[in-house]
Amino acid sequence: MYERVDLDAIDLGMGPPSLEPQRQYYFMAKLRKTVDQEKKRLGRPLTACVVTFGCQMNARESEKLSGILQMTGFELSEQENSDFVIYNTCTVRDNANQKVYGRLGVLNGYKKKNPNMKIALCGCMTQEETVIAKLKESYPFVDLIFGTHNLYAFAELVYRTYHEKHMLIEVWKESDRIVEDLPVLRKYPFKSGINIMFGCNNFCSYCIVPYVRGRERSREPKEILREIERLVQDGVVEIMLLGQNVNSYGKNLEDGITFAQLLREVEKIEGLQRIRFMTSHPKDLSDELIQVMKESKKICKHLHLPLQSGSDRILKAMNRRYTKESYIALAEKIRREIPEIAITTDIIVGFPGETAEDVEDTIDVIRRVQYDNAFTFVYSKRTGTPAAAMEQVPEEQVREGFDKVLKCVQETARMRVQRYQGQIQEALVEEVNDGSNSEEALRELNATEGQVLLTGRLSNNTIVHFPGLPGQVGTIVRVRLEECRGFYYLGRMEDPLEGTKEKGVLN
Ligand code: SAH
Ligand code: SF4
Ligand code: F3S
Repeated sequence: MYERVDLDAIDLGMGPPSLEPQRQYYFMAKLRKTVDQEKKRLGRPLTACVVTFGCQMNARESEKLSGILQMTGFELSEQENSDFVIYNTCTVRDNANQKVYGRLGVLNGYKKKNPNMKIALCGCMTQEETVIAKLKESYPFVDLIFGTHNLYAFAELVYRTYHEKHMLIEVWKESDRIVEDLPVLRKYPFKSGINIMFGCNNFCSYCIVPYVRGRERSREPKEILREIERLVQDGVVEIMLLGQNVNSYGKNLEDGITFAQLLREVEKIEGLQRIRFMTSHPKDLSDELIQVMKESKKICKHLHLPLQSGSDRILKAMNRRYTKESYIALAEKIRREIPEIAITTDIIVGFPGETAEDVEDTIDVIRRVQYDNAFTFVYSKRTGTPAAAMEQVPEEQVREGFDKVLKCVQETARMRVQRYQGQIQEALVEEVNDGSNSEEALRELNATEGQVLLTGRLSNNTIVHFPGLPGQVGTIVRVRLEECRGFYYLGRMEDPLEGTKEKGVLN
């Protein structure tokens, strides 16, 4: 395991091993020497900054990049004028790409002032040939470009970047390889995402993910369980199992394990308190999963169940493989079995061929399912996907539909969230909130001297702010939900000292 890897003990005279992850440990040792030399030459630390543009999976991968950078001697920073800056990109909608291009211009300015600076790009965007062509043409100051399939070789790639003087491009089309046991630097000490699978086989007609992430590959259950056990030993209380479609977990594994069975195993891990997962495709959600969620003491009362559209015609064109009525029936079944569950969703407005009537169908589903929250996106045309070749909807019509859907989503979500008013629920304290309104909230809640405004997350994913102590971050406390503020709550802790004792904050 990587914790036991002693970089000093690696024989660098031998040449790189061909086996992974040993090869990467070798390059980590080499890179650490290079970083040391750079530090000596410059007479100061070498800083590195990792910026995440995408989803939770992307964020988890950024933690791996950070782990390798830290282990090889970089000092991690949030400043984009660091000595090594890497953008972990997303290409699910065009605005994500535009953001990257805009910010690359700013990086170029920093690089002119600091000629030692290295700029790297990875993630989903770099898997697109058109993007690579554009980068070569207009962004020659980028030093390193690699894709989603060879992220595990980051140490080797960074090493080469410091020793080769040209733009290094290493993007693979596909890979069936999963490399375990690389260092990870978590953003939060108390919660963590865990990849249980990579890629996607669904080919929804609007979506670029299957093209940039490749075919579906599940990790071995024993590797997942081992990783979670290690995380729990390290202080993690909440985990989120990540995959583009967790409901098809295990389909390519020999022992035929299902997602529900994996959850049962994860549940048994002592010390782990909360389990979340993302994302569930409605077409594959099994009765077994509903049963496991119902019986579980640890699985959070939240299900993200992307709808995309409520129109059968559009769902068919999207290749989603469920209908409006089968989706509603599924949501009703889940609510019947687990009444307190919060259901959230993703909706796309403006898919090719969508009419005002189709939008009404989507609104009908929102009204009937009553989502606790919904992310509404304007359809974005992605090169190479089947929908890109279909007839696009005029912008004005999209705008109109989008505003209607958003209004409906907000109304229903507000109503749903209000239901918790007055309840006492458990919240995992995630951070100290020192935003501009925190002083006012503290006054309103009659906070006592020394208390700060904490932000916690309920099992159903709702956010609550309440007065407490900074030492309570990372613990689970009971909170009375006093005042609903639209999508979040102001609250008060039931036992203000909860969670602080074992940390010794009050000694
Ligand atoms: N695998 C997940 C979704 C990953 S992408 C799932 O199937 O649910 C996250 C969300 O982005 C999708 O649910 C969809 O609503 C949105 N999305 C994907 N492609 C899009 C596109 N071309 N235009 C607009 N939104 C898109
Ligand atoms: Fe994209 Fe569909 Fe796969 Fe989700 S399930 S990543 S929307 S193709
Ligand atoms: Fe974006 Fe890639 Fe995630 S396209 S949404 S970062 S899988």
